[in-house]
Amino acid sequence: MTQETPRVVAIGEVMVEMAPVEGGVYRRGFAGDTFNTAWHMGQLLTGTAEVGYVTRLGQDALSDDFVREMQADGLTTSGVGRDADRTMGLYLIELQDAERSFHYWRSQSAARLLADDPAWLAETLQGTSLIHLSGITVAILPPAARNTLLEALAQARTNGARVSFDPNIRPKLWTSQDEIRETIPRFIEAADIALPSFDDEAAHFGDADPAATVERFAAGGVTEIIVKNGADAVTARIDGQDLTVDTPAVDKVIDTSGAGDAFNAGYLSARLLGRGARASVAAGQSVSGQVIGCYGARIPKDQMSPL
Ligand SMILES: Nc1ncnc2c1ncn2[C@@H]1O[C@H](COP(=O)(O)OP(=O)(O)O)[C@@H](O)[C@H]1O
Ligand SMILES: [Mg+2]
Repeated sequence: MTQETPRVVAIGEVMVEMAPVEGGVYRRGFAGDTFNTAWHMGQLLTGTAEVGYVTRLGQDALSDDFVREMQADGLTTSGVGRDADRTMGLYLIELQDAERSFHYWRSQSAARLLADDPAWLAETLQGTSLIHLSGITVAILPPAARNTLLEALAQARTNGARVSFDPNIRPKLWTSQDEIRETIPRFIEAADIALPSFDDEAAHFGDADPAATVERFAAGGVTEIIVKNGADAVTARIDGQDLTVDTPAVDKVIDTSGAGDAFNAGYLSARLLGRGARASVAAGQSVSGQVIGCYGARIPKDQMSPL
């Protein structure tokens, strides 16, 4: 790839996933909201952009396996820091009568250190044209590290990067509703592109409808706002153009995990490929439609349709 190849990174936490197979046997995988987005972008943008993931891992064999998997899937690993006395967080999927619940062991994960070193963080964002992060990225950080992250994003924007933010509000990761309501707006102001889900925003910010979510993010200075709403239409304001795009029905919904993350990947990739507003929303709907038709938060590589 040439000098002009755009560099894209997502920042956040990827965890070890233990998914039940049968009889107490679990299959190990790796997942996490921002990683799911980066991974799909890596596949959709092969040959067009260099896609990397910024996080911190341990120095153990598990972390090595994850790095090898990233490399095999074409993602750049220069943004992966390694800490000797920590490892990856983990979650386990519990299946009860086809209902899935999630148990997490992530409070001491290496990823929580990702904004502890301002110089390292700034280095990982050097030369990027698009940076994606989420409210989960923010929630796992101690308050001082959130400020470091905001400073790094501001510097990257000064250097020409665009910042994409999916609030992805998970109340269990925050200490209080007040903390959510104080912190998320600071990251909205740090973003050029926002990809919220309406149900989260209604629950924590009291938005009456998706148009109210659009207005709130616009007031924060975001110029590309795409409000996801499950099977309902997407409501967006993109470079001053308001649009509503019906979500195509998905025949067989098998597992909705990662729907929003896959949408983000489809939308952001289409924009990087120069597609227009409506076509890019449709690309998000298409990629998320594919992910909910299969198990897990990633579309199997051989089943993924190109944009
Ligand atoms: N039941 C569904 N039928 C069709 N598309 C869906 C369905 N659920 C989710 N999607 C797609 O996934 C996108 C994100 O879903 P949503 O539930 O809003 O996000 P999240 O996974 O973050 O909660 C939607 O905009 C839509 O394109
Ligand atoms: Mg989401």
